[in-house]
Amino acid sequence: MSVIRTQVGIIGGGPSGLLLSQLLHRRGIDTVVLEKHSRDYVLGRIRAGVLEHGFANLMREAGCGDRMDAEGEIHDGVYIAHQGRMDRVDLARHTGGNSVLVYGQTEVTRDLYQARADMDGVVIHNARDVALFDLKSAAPYLTYAKDGATHRVDCDYIVGADGFHGASRKAIPSDVLREYEKVYPFGWLGVLSETKPVSPELIYARHERGFALCSMRSQLLSRYYIQVPITDTAAQWSDDAFWAELKSRLPQDVAETLQTGPSIEKSIAPLRSFVAEPMRYGQLFLAGDAAHIVPPTGAKGLNSAASDIHYLYHGLVDHYLNDDDAGLDAYSEKALARVWKAQRFSWWMTNLLHRFPDSEDVDQQLQRTDLDYLFSSDAALASMAENYVGLPY
Ligand code: FAD
Ligand code: DHB
Repeated sequence: MSVIRTQVGIIGGGPSGLLLSQLLHRRGIDTVVLEKHSRDYVLGRIRAGVLEHGFANLMREAGCGDRMDAEGEIHDGVYIAHQGRMDRVDLARHTGGNSVLVYGQTEVTRDLYQARADMDGVVIHNARDVALFDLKSAAPYLTYAKDGATHRVDCDYIVGADGFHGASRKAIPSDVLREYEKVYPFGWLGVLSETKPVSPELIYARHERGFALCSMRSQLLSRYYIQVPITDTAAQWSDDAFWAELKSRLPQDVAETLQTGPSIEKSIAPLRSFVAEPMRYGQLFLAGDAAHIVPPTGAKGLNSAASDIHYLYHGLVDHYLNDDDAGLDAYSEKALARVWKAQRFSWWMTNLLHRFPDSEDVDQQLQRTDLDYLFSSDAALASMAENYVGLPY
């Protein structure tokens, strides 16, 4: 068995794991990233598109902000379509000038992989059967299988950044871990198409037929979603059926200007609220989707992963460079406080904008009233805006 030694062993080469590895390496802290899949597989997944300014700042601190700043689009407002009209949430006005950046997770991940390669960072792909050992000791270690052999990584700390289905959360004993979960009775069917976005800013639509979202990756690449029953499959939806359904959920003048074209990606994402507590067990720290999942309505999934990385990065730097463990000791509590606020906001937006299969007239009237209230109250708009751009770390 080959054995390598590092300071921080990171499981998962998604955005959380790569960003932490890159940030730590720049402060002289050694990491090894174990990723189950190939780089092309990781880059093939189309996911989030909206970055909070806190996330963007971390990318810059990691030395990975140049392309993001050149190609990402600053959005200082979003629209909500309801009852046949469009109302705008002026993010900048209600937050003292804050905004979000539209730059896809695929591009974030590509930039992080490039930065890791430029610094000769160790990212081991196709690392299978990752297992965690001795988490309560000062010398935890990982094993993984690759090319027919078993390998071992000795570390001071292990970071579980291996997503919802990863191995790290499962390594915490069930009598220690508390899991909160809610699965929604619908999914989002997403389509990526090489067409001009229908609107310069995102449109979140509430409609009797169900939720819809008009987003984008650039001025040449659109990303659209519609709420569908969780039992649907992407293969069941032709492009024509998708475009017709999307248009039916948008105000007529918007639908009339929507450019359609062949889909270049089409997939269904389930909606789930999930939090695992605590986010630390011995020398293991959980980060990102390994510890929590939000329904995507508030664009908080990737952004919640980034705030975990912020706290963990500073905790590890204080440990290694300043001999101070206060940050690591407070990690779980601090990360969870912000995670729960992102959960609350995502749950609120999901409930506000989706059609629930068993909803009654009263539920729908309350949704309409919630929206009427939102657009009649500066206080309500300020609350929506400060959450959408991201609460402070
Ligand atoms: P991940 O991106 O899941 O990365 C984890 C990595 O760990 C993966 O590369 C995986 O291959 C690897 N891994 C898993 N198991 C192991 C193992 N045992 N050993 C080694 N490696 C392992 N968020 C939004 O804000 N907006 C969206 O529209 C949106 N859409 C989404 C659609 C889908 C289908 C999913 C699943 C998520 C979506 N999200 C969205 C959420 C967002 O993409 C995630 O919050 C973000 O990817 C979290 O990053 P992460 O690095 O923590 O986890
Ligand atoms: C996108 C996804 C979201 O969940 C969201 O709230 C906004 C944008 C996107 O994929 O572009």
